[in-house]
Amino acid sequence: MKRLLSLFACALVATPLFAADLQAGKAKVDAVCSACHGANGISVSDAIPNLAGQRVAYLEAQLRAWKDGTRKNPIMNAIGGQLGSDDIANVAAYFASLPRGDGAAKSELMPQIARNRLAFPEDYRSWVQYDRVDQPARKQVQLFYANPVAAQAARAGQRLPDGAYLLGETYSAKLGADRQPVKGADGHFVPDQLLAYVAMSREAGWGRDFPELLRNEDWNYAVFTPARQPRAGFNQAECLACHKPQDRSSYTFTGDKLVAAVQAR
Ligand code: HEC
Ligand code: HEC
Repeated sequence: MKRLLSLFACALVATPLFAADLQAGKAKVDAVCSACHGANGISVSDAIPNLAGQRVAYLEAQLRAWKDGTRKNPIMNAIGGQLGSDDIANVAAYFASLPRGDGAAKSELMPQIARNRLAFPEDYRSWVQYDRVDQPARKQVQLFYANPVAAQAARAGQRLPDGAYLLGETYSAKLGADRQPVKGADGHFVPDQLLAYVAMSREAGWGRDFPELLRNEDWNYAVFTPARQPRAGFNQAECLACHKPQDRSSYTFTGDKLVAAVQAR
């Protein structure tokens, strides 16, 4: 017994409190982080940092800061908030183990993130226009529309079901002589040029291919050009991550505005 006890004591001294699991780290990186930071730690765009070969302590500190909100970014706060301390140690150790790859070409988007299932809804002007949001920093204004399936559910106070479709028109704001957005009679910025459409819709099974950490039930997201063509190259993982914390309002930010608009009619 004495011998067993001393063996046990030795084992305690020899192993660190928590040994990072590189395999588990790789699995999480491949499933989730690779959508933006690349499976090899070289990111998919210039707006997203490379993580390959970063120091473990730095990576862990950033992940804890995203998790507790002391460092702010809506996408990484949503992702960090879902990581446990084991996950943090494992993914940090894995990214740190990868070669830095300075100057390496950006990684490709994951196929299931790049794929786009939404068709442009040609009849959207007949839908409920339920909200209008000024974007002062970008000098833009967005008008949001909901299809009849979404409007009906909102009127009944239900979550948005399969078949729901929300569309936003993104316009540059009309600028005055001082180059600042002018306001119309309704107190909002005045739409000038149509820049793009943003869209979200859901159908059964559409979320199946996304990792749980990014998945928003069966919602998919899309961006369309003013010519109503799907815009290639946008990263659907960013849409999923930023909208994910809105799970209580069907993954929308403007869901309460939709409810207010349709219930007032
Ligand atoms: C949807 C895209 C996306 C996904 C998925 C994603 N990240 Fe990020 N990550 C970002 C962006 C964007 C930034 C830069 C944010 C900023 O600096 O404000 C970032 C920054 C970071 C940083 C800070 C790097 C630095 O140089 O300070 C760490 C660490 C990080 N991410 C880890 C992870 C891990 C681990 C995962 C997977 C569990 C992950 N990220 C998944 C988009 C993403
Ligand atoms: C940085 C966080 C963030 C990211 C990334 C993001 N959204 Fe949003 N989204 C918002 C916010 C906030 C609103 C509410 C309107 C506003 O204040 O801009 C919104 C509103 C919307 C709406 C109207 C329905 C709703 O949820 O309220 C659609 C549709 C939409 N976004 C689509 C997209 C698409 C497509 C992408 C990816 C290309 C995307 N979003 C990426 C934050 C984000």
